[in-house]
Amino acid sequence: MNKVAAFLSVSWLALAGAASVAAAAEGAEAPAKETETESLDWKSWRANNKVDSINSLQRGARNFMNYCVSCHSLKYLRYSRMAHDLQIPEDMLQKNLMPIEASVNDYITTSLRGSDGETWFGKEPPDLSLMARARGVDYIYRFLKTFYTDPSRPTQTNNLQLENVAMPAVLSDLGGVQAAVYRNVERVVDGKTVTEKEFSHFELTTPGRLTPQEFDEFVRDTVNFLDYAGDPSQVERRSTGVWVVLFLLVLTWLAWLLKKEYWKDIH
Ligand code: HEC
Repeated sequence: MNKVAAFLSVSWLALAGAASVAAAAEGAEAPAKETETESLDWKSWRANNKVDSINSLQRGARNFMNYCVSCHSLKYLRYSRMAHDLQIPEDMLQKNLMPIEASVNDYITTSLRGSDGETWFGKEPPDLSLMARARGVDYIYRFLKTFYTDPSRPTQTNNLQLENVAMPAVLSDLGGVQAAVYRNVERVVDGKTVTEKEFSHFELTTPGRLTPQEFDEFVRDTVNFLDYAGDPSQVERRSTGVWVVLFLLVLTWLAWLLKKEYWKDIH
């Protein structure tokens, strides 16, 4: 009997230990991954976002409300749901993240009317609820980081990921304004050598308010938030999943100890 009690208390200790490890992992911010700005091949850039980091998601929500919601909606996500999942207190939600006239149970809509969007940008800004699922997080990460000046465009802006983009470079005050630098490459086409222009790298012509690393984090957090918005229950699912696995591990261990106890006199 004593033994069983000891087993139980040990397993509780194990659980508590695992919980504090999990909590520490949550609290610790992941160090910035390899600096993507240094890799010249923009097609290899990855979002590397962590949808189980509540801190990153909170920052992403703030970024979205400051820089995106003026044109884009998240029509399947309610403010209240977002606040619950991202552990945002209601007063902070209402003060910092919601328009005054909105109610917490409203879906996240934009004040921009679709027809205005079309008049101003030539295209209605799409709803972003399912964008991360449709295009993938790496796509959006690259999209937000590859705006460059292009005087031939009405917005003076183009984008490597989405050529002839209608969206203006809305993050240039943070990330700066960059020019695309091209190089000539020679290719043999049908036996003839032709010289083609190929994208080489970006050159920061006007620095923004953030350093390149800070801007990467800003974009990563924003993409992370869009990843969450595309599947809001994944945050809860993942944290529940950890507990379920821990519970099963402890249960297996207890069962094994019990089996040893039952069989010890038989061998
Ligand atoms: C001033 C209005 C405006 C703002 C602000 C804005 N966008 Fe856009 N966005 C647009 C328009 C217009 C399009 C359509 C672009 C197109 O299809 O050429 C678009 C398209 C997109 C797309 C889809 C790209 C694709 O492949 O179809 C994504 C993703 C996106 N925006 C993300 C964002 C994020 C994230 C923010 C905030 C950091 C943001 N946008 C802020 C106007 C805006």
